[in-house]
Amino acid sequence: MRADSGDLGPFSGPGDITPGRSRTPYVRRGGPMYYRGRDMALTHQGMRISERDWEVFLGHAAKTLAKFQVPEAEQRDVVALVQSLKKDIVE
Ligand code: HEM
Repeated sequence: MRADSGDLGPFSGPGDITPGRSRTPYVRRGGPMYYRGRDMALTHQGMRISERDWEVFLGHAAKTLAKFQVPEAEQRDVVALVQSLKKDIVE
């Protein structure tokens, strides 16, 4: 989301990519990887992520899944997981 975030400008930007400074965990190939960061409500609290931001984000996610030809069943699983977090992220 940092380079070209479409309509999500306020939530993107150069950020701080200094190794060790970013709070965003690096995902390495060859998992499994367990997320041990803060929960989603605490992480996104106060960011004022709106319903519209959420829709734009879902649109980007859908395009990404389609571009990489992720099979439909897995696409459904990903969308279901993401949707289950909406209540913690959208204010
Ligand atoms: C299911 C959907 C989402 C998941 C799983 C998710 C997950 C995360 C995680 C793991 C972090 C890092 C937390 C940390 O470092 O402590 C994060 C940060 C962040 N998220 Fe989300 N997020 C989601 C949706 C969104 C949406 C829709 C937006 C805005 C439109 C958003 C905006 C941000 C921003 C601005 C940060 C801070 C980035 C930084 O400080 O470097 N997130 N998110």
